[in-house]
Amino acid sequence: MNSISYRDRPDAIRALIDVDRVHRDVYLDAELFALENERLFARAWLYVGHISQIPEAGDYLSTTLADQPVILIRQADGTVRVLLNRCAHKGAMVLSCASGNAGKFLRCPYHAWTYKIDGKPLGVPLRNGYEGTRLHECEAGAGLTNVATAVYRGFVFARLAPEGRSFEDYAGAMLPVFDNLADRSPAGELRVSGGCLRSVMQCNWKIYLENVIDAVHPVSTHESAWQPARDAASEWPAHLPRPMALEQLLPFGAGYDFFQQAGARVYPQGHCILGTQASIHSGYDALPGYEDALRQAHGRQRTHEVLSFTPQNAVLFPTLALKSSPQTLRVIRPLAVDRTLVEIWALAPRDAPAELLHRTLTYNRLTFSPMSMVAHDDIHVFETLQKSLAGNGNPWVSLHREHRAEQTEAACPDISGTSEGLMRNQFRAWLDALVSSTDA
Ligand code: FES
Ligand SMILES: [Fe+2]
Repeated sequence: MNSISYRDRPDAIRALIDVDRVHRDVYLDAELFALENERLFARAWLYVGHISQIPEAGDYLSTTLADQPVILIRQADGTVRVLLNRCAHKGAMVLSCASGNAGKFLRCPYHAWTYKIDGKPLGVPLRNGYEGTRLHECEAGAGLTNVATAVYRGFVFARLAPEGRSFEDYAGAMLPVFDNLADRSPAGELRVSGGCLRSVMQCNWKIYLENVIDAVHPVSTHESAWQPARDAASEWPAHLPRPMALEQLLPFGAGYDFFQQAGARVYPQGHCILGTQASIHSGYDALPGYEDALRQAHGRQRTHEVLSFTPQNAVLFPTLALKSSPQTLRVIRPLAVDRTLVEIWALAPRDAPAELLHRTLTYNRLTFSPMSMVAHDDIHVFETLQKSLAGNGNPWVSLHREHRAEQTEAACPDISGTSEGLMRNQFRAWLDALVSSTDA
């Protein structure tokens, strides 16, 4: 690794990102990880949770965004807020459970300072001791810090930086992906269902994120899953319906041509969609009555739009990956430069056949659970890659596939499903975020 400081050296950060390759320090350097927290994650709109997880006033979720503990909490008027989970007195964590109901107020477990559920200060023990002091003139007297919050179709996002672009502006062309997911329900509503699969990997978060849009690896990495599925399918009695597991695993072995023609599109801010034309999810069987129910609710045209869009993965850079069918969310929560938590959530479209949720839960267990037939092969590669990259050898990681020197990539958003243009686009956004404050 380089032994230089990156903090005040935008030139040194720029030198890490070439047009068709990146320096290994982007995956290995702890100072760059700290800068990512400050300059990328803190300024991005990050996914926090879904409103269906906090239906009642006082219901909350706690999580971490850019290394900051936060609480997502439902208010008495039905709105939601994201608060820093940090007591205004000495900084203790106010709520340490992953979820629950706080009741009508929040109480710090350390010295019992209390707050309204919107974060405003409510009371302190030994109130007389504060009379005549400057407590109410300073931050400690102001309660819990509210973080910029946006709700879109039930998905809740937060931006830690007080100033910045709106969520709609940030997400831009990705908004229709959320619309597509919500409109998979005749009622236009989703509900998180079936708990969360959590997996901690000893690798940099970008190794995971790149894999989400890497359509070249399934043929080789997941041969151990699709080959047995193919063998089983060839012997499956024709008069019996195929199990869902076969329907879901067989396309992993679809071949390079299929993935190339699946198509992809890159967007500003590092967002992208893999599978604009087709994906491993395109061939799922139609469910009886479902299309009719959608037509009644949304009309023929919208129903066609919704059901014909089955991206393999859509990425809201830098930490959220979505599938429309099955209805799955993956949330990347970076823990350290070489440690990453991934959360996998299933969404159930309201008033839709139970089979849809069944399909999602089966898919998540089959492919994303660390005990699955698929994810353990990925995780093996991620963790060994993280180690071997730090060893001797070429310090540059190749992103050459389908890079043509004569073309300006930004002017060609539609690319093949196997192009590393998807990753190059992410690194352009990464670089932008990491050097923009130092350029100002
Ligand atoms: S740290 Fe919370 S009341 Fe003292
Ligand atoms: Fe994989």
